Amino acid sequence: MSAAYPVTEHVYDVIVIGAGGAGLRASLGMSAAGLKTACITKVYPTRSHTVAAQGGIGAALGNMGEDDWRWHMYDTVKGGDWLGDQDAIEYMCREAVPAVIELEHMGVPFSRTPEGKIYQRPFGGHTVQYGKNPAHRSASAADRTGHAILHTLYQQCLKHDAEFFIEYFVLDLLMDGGVCRGVVAWCLEDGSIHRFRAQIVVMATGGYGRTYFSCTSAHICTGDGNAMVLRAGLPLQDMEFIQFHPTGIYGAGCLITEGVRGEGGYLTNAEGERFMERYAPHAKDLASRDVVSRAMTIEIREGRGCGPKKDYIHLHIEHLDPAVIRLRLPGIAETSRIFAGVDVTREPIPVLPTVHYNMGGIPTNLRAEALAPTPDDPDRVTPGLMAIGEAACVSVHGANRLGTNSLLDLVVFGRAAALRAREIVKSGAAQKPLPASADDRALSRLDRVRHAKGKTKTGEIRLAMQRIMQDHCAVFRTAELLEQGVRKMAQVASSAGDLSVSDRSMIWNSDVVEALELDNLLAQATVALHGARARTESRGAHAREDFPKRDDQNWMKHTLAWMNGGGQVELGYRPVHNFTLSNDVQPFPPKERVY
Ligand code: FUM
Repeated sequence: MSAAYPVTEHVYDVIVIGAGGAGLRASLGMSAAGLKTACITKVYPTRSHTVAAQGGIGAALGNMGEDDWRWHMYDTVKGGDWLGDQDAIEYMCREAVPAVIELEHMGVPFSRTPEGKIYQRPFGGHTVQYGKNPAHRSASAADRTGHAILHTLYQQCLKHDAEFFIEYFVLDLLMDGGVCRGVVAWCLEDGSIHRFRAQIVVMATGGYGRTYFSCTSAHICTGDGNAMVLRAGLPLQDMEFIQFHPTGIYGAGCLITEGVRGEGGYLTNAEGERFMERYAPHAKDLASRDVVSRAMTIEIREGRGCGPKKDYIHLHIEHLDPAVIRLRLPGIAETSRIFAGVDVTREPIPVLPTVHYNMGGIPTNLRAEALAPTPDDPDRVTPGLMAIGEAACVSVHGANRLGTNSLLDLVVFGRAAALRAREIVKSGAAQKPLPASADDRALSRLDRVRHAKGKTKTGEIRLAMQRIMQDHCAVFRTAELLEQGVRKMAQVASSAGDLSVSDRSMIWNSDVVEALELDNLLAQATVALHGARARTESRGAHAREDFPKRDDQNWMKHTLAWMNGGGQVELGYRPVHNFTLSNDVQPFPPKERVY
């Protein structure tokens, strides 16, 4: 196979796949430590999906009222409905404070308070004193925080000489006896194939939002790293936990930040009622996302949706001072004008819960090392492989992520990966050579797709997959819906055997790239449906109408999903870490979530 595709070989100490916030923070830390670092990315770094993050990054800085990282930790454990690993959550919330100050020192242009401190706005599920009152915790740069962070991190990477391979599409991992030794990648610009060898491969490849028809994720969010891990015979974790953001623009799916409600915005139904007061009397519109998304869905189902079809909800900010909108929310004003034709200073924005985030992914420990759990060793590490950001399941978000904790996760665990790499990677150490056949698996897959001669276009298969996820794995789920979803998805996955590809060239062949991405998405949609069907309880974003209660006795455990070459899924489980790292905080015992 290598004869058909000449391969150029590169050797690095570490390679990072993906150039979003996590990938850039890891690349920066690794290159700054003197490790020869390559960052391989399928899009230009500043086009990575982190650029779209709006509302802010959570940290108990206490700039606008009292705060404590333990309160942040409590909110995160509770928001995640006690599925999160508390040692990792402790680490993230404690490290949040220096991480945000570090970003400030790197040059992130945060918004400011009148005294010049970093501006912090309230966000859903974030409280002070263990649930008493809303916290001002989201450090933001207007409503373009991800944009500000991503650009700053890229500049810092260039300063530290991380090397970038831009518009390279990674095809697969190079595994050797259970150890990850590199990747095979396709340079889209000139069509060449590259083998990258490294002591550590870091997956920072983002989530799989595009398994759904309506999502806030960019078209690049196809979870390529997760699928590579499945093909390597390794498991993914908690894939059934898929977050719906309450306020995607009706029809278009674009994100309207929760920061809107943090600045005083609120939701109403067709009767003009502020219905969140019924569902979450204390937190109201700032309850956690799963709670708000379910409430909106119930309002629409019960006939109180807005518009001619009664199928959306109104989000209001027309009561806010236009100066506040210009200063704090300029991006959503523009997005609403373009995608909903709405002037936010005069009329409400039509919104709908929209897929936003994947809590599941590649299981890791809090040092970012990927895990290959066994019944005897649920925390067993896969040598040579790390995962960070939305691709990873550390698990700091448990069953439902709090807003602002994603940007935080990116920088805290991007840094943790770099710290761990400094400990275990020896700069310039000789690497065991790989056989010439090492690339065969990756190249055969490329060749199969490139020369596919069936009748069904990628777009048709993708649409069928997205419709199934939308209809069968949505805000509310039942055994019947999920069972049908599993069956239909198996049919759609097998229709990929009839794939039609019309462009067989190697240069900028988006036909083949999209087909490979679809293959990646299908695997993740399949394991998500299987995990959801098996989990007979409701927890966080996984709301089963036939099992409406959380069942800690039987289900306080992480789902693991493996997929064999024939597409069959095998499920297993591993325990949640209900312990902390230090004596500074005790684990929070499970209790009912009341907002
Ligand atoms: O609503 C938002 O701005 C999204 C933030 C997040 O997902 O963390």
